[in-house]
Amino acid sequence: MKERLQQLQEDALSALQRAEDLKALQEVRVQVLGKKGSLTEVMKGMRDLTAEERPVIGHLVNTLKTQFEDTFVVRQSELQRQDIAAKLANEKIDVTLPGRRAKSGSLHPVTLVTDEVVEIFSRLGFAVAEGPEIEHDFYNFEALNIPKDHPARDMQDTFYISDDRVLRTHTSPVQIRTMMKHKPPIRIIAPGTVYRRDSDLTHSPMFHQVEGFLVDDRVSFGDLKGILTHFLNEFFGEGHAVRFRPSFFPFTEPSAEVDIECVICGGDGCRVCGKTGWLEILGCGMIDPAVFNSVDYDPEKFSGFAFGMGLERMAMLKYGVNDLRLFFENDLRFLKQF
Ligand code: PHE
Repeated sequence: MKERLQQLQEDALSALQRAEDLKALQEVRVQVLGKKGSLTEVMKGMRDLTAEERPVIGHLVNTLKTQFEDTFVVRQSELQRQDIAAKLANEKIDVTLPGRRAKSGSLHPVTLVTDEVVEIFSRLGFAVAEGPEIEHDFYNFEALNIPKDHPARDMQDTFYISDDRVLRTHTSPVQIRTMMKHKPPIRIIAPGTVYRRDSDLTHSPMFHQVEGFLVDDRVSFGDLKGILTHFLNEFFGEGHAVRFRPSFFPFTEPSAEVDIECVICGGDGCRVCGKTGWLEILGCGMIDPAVFNSVDYDPEKFSGFAFGMGLERMAMLKYGVNDLRLFFENDLRFLKQF
């Protein structure tokens, strides 16, 4: 019996050494200690032994079992180490491979124009402000002197969210929000997305505007003309004539529309300027006292001007783009040119 056990143990231990991977190692363990394992069989046979033999063999079996298990653990960690080493060798990073170049995108032309407009006005001391795109009727209309029955509400065919919430039709509500929060003097430039129920070759239901306004004591129409003329010279380059035409907006009085000599044909008349030689660029005026009243500014004490312009139109003129839809189709062949 002793010899049989000795032999069994020798075989078991050498099987452990021969096992070449963790799976094979587990199999050896099952062969020895599993339900039908060789050592298990011996233990099952113990009941046939005599009373003297039993403790001797029992002791031997236990010693063998412990020895087997110790060897198993040692071999197991050996194989695990081998495994890791093999993995490290296989998955080694080849630092000599050339890198993959990240393709850098470019800014959208409307973003470029927005940044440039903001930058020009920043140099004149204007700070950037923003407002929500879902706007309360009060800020978008009422406080801007456009009461419920005012015909100007048709001018800006509005997307209504509910009775008193709209997708803002212009950036002018930022005037109200800013003036309600801050006292003069203020100089603000406010770019943003606006929405109107309008869709054709030259109108998109979503587009971008930039609003500018300045409030202080003794602000005059001359200041407005000076600042806007300076801006247009910076943006389109010197040498284009600028003219102010009387116009109407409920929130400015007097109001004007500003034209610039056509930047495409230089004033000779072309398709872009409709043969007039002039391009309509922006709306502006002196802030109406009714607006000051709705934000609790004293119209006797303060005066100011405001202006607003469409950024897609500025981008079309600046880059000579003749189709508004190109800005929103996200065709990379178009976008990559900027
Ligand atoms: N909010 C006007 C528009 O959308 C533009 C404007 C702004 C006019 C400020 C005058 C003063 O057409």
